[in-house]
Amino acid sequence: MAPIAENGQITAPENEIKASALELIGNTPIVALDRLYTGPGRILAKCEFMNPGASIKCRSSLSMIQRALKSGELKPGAPVVEVTSGNQGCGLAVVCAVLQHPLTLTMSKGNSAQRAIHMEALGAKCVRVDQVEGTYGNVTLADVKAVEEVGLKIVAEQNAYYVNQFSNEANASAHYASTGPEIWKQTGHHVDAFVATVGTAGTFVGTSKYLKEQNPNIKTYVVEPAGAEPIKGDVVTKPLHLLQGSGYGCVPNLFKFEYMDGTLSVTDEEAVEYKNLIGEKEGLYVGYTSGANVAAAVKLLESGLIPEDSWVVTLLNDTGLKYTPVPEELFK
Ligand SMILES: Cc1ncc(COP(=O)(O)O)c(C=O)c1O
Repeated sequence: MAPIAENGQITAPENEIKASALELIGNTPIVALDRLYTGPGRILAKCEFMNPGASIKCRSSLSMIQRALKSGELKPGAPVVEVTSGNQGCGLAVVCAVLQHPLTLTMSKGNSAQRAIHMEALGAKCVRVDQVEGTYGNVTLADVKAVEEVGLKIVAEQNAYYVNQFSNEANASAHYASTGPEIWKQTGHHVDAFVATVGTAGTFVGTSKYLKEQNPNIKTYVVEPAGAEPIKGDVVTKPLHLLQGSGYGCVPNLFKFEYMDGTLSVTDEEAVEYKNLIGEKEGLYVGYTSGANVAAAVKLLESGLIPEDSWVVTLLNDTGLKYTPVPEELFK
C-alpha cells in the first residue's frame, strides 16, 4: 500500500505512479486454486477480472487500437465502432476514454445489461440490438450477425474505424505478447497444460502459440459449451448456453487448429457450479466462462489425458459483477 503522509495524503514514489488506466492493463496476478482443487496436480488461474475493464478483453482492446494508430488506419481523435458481447466494448471504452476517441458499440440485448452500463459510464455509446433467436443471457450466432449488421451501418455513417475483433490479427497477438509470456514467467516455466474458452479465439490462439513455442510438450485444450462444439467437430445441437462471450457455434476466423491438442466440454450446470465454488472457496467473484474454464481444468486433471500431478493454467476471464441482476426496466 502507498505510504500515508502526516497530512493524511497518500503519497507514492513517482516510479509507482501509473501514467493512465492503459498501464493497468495486463500483468494480472496468477493464483493457485488450491482450496477448490486439492490435487494431485494444481489449477493456476490468471485474474483477468482485475483489468480496468474488468475482463481479459482489455488486452486485445489496447493492442488493436495501438496497431490501428500505428498503421494510420485510425487517426488521433477519430471515431471507433465495434460489435461486442460486452467485454470487448468495456475494454475499448477504457482505451478510447484515455486516448479520447468517440466510441460506439453495438451489443445484443441478450448480453448482460451491466456491460452496457459499464461502457456508457466510460463515455461510450452502446446500441443494444434485439435478439433474433436467443434469450436474455443466451446469445447465438444469429444474434451476433444481427448486431454486426447494425454495427456496420454505423461504421459507414460515421466513417469510423471498425475494430473487427473477429478478424483482427492484433487481437491474438495481444495474448502472444502478454498473456502467454506472463504465464510462462509467473509459473517459473512450470506449465503442463492450458485450457480456455473461445469467443474470437484471440486468447486461446495467442496464448497457446506462445506457450507451445516455449515448450512443445505443453498441452492446450479449448473449452466448449456442451452441445455447441464445432471446434471438436460436432454438429451444434444446443446453441443457447450461459457462456456469454464464447461458444458462438462456429469455428472463428482467428482459430488455428495447430495450437490445439483437444477440446473439453462443459455444461451450463458445471459452469455455474464452478463459478460458485471459485467464489465460496477462493474468495473470487467471477463470471460464467471463468467457471467453465475451471470446471474444464478439473475434468482434464481427472481425465487421464495428462499426468495427474500436472499444473493446469487457465483464466478467470471477467468479474461476476457483470452478471448480477439489475432492475427489470433496464432490460427494455
Ligand atoms: C467472458 C468472456 N470469456 C471469454 C471470452 C473469449 O475470449 P476471446 O474472444 O479472446 O476468444 C470472452 C470474449 O469476449 C468473454 O467476454
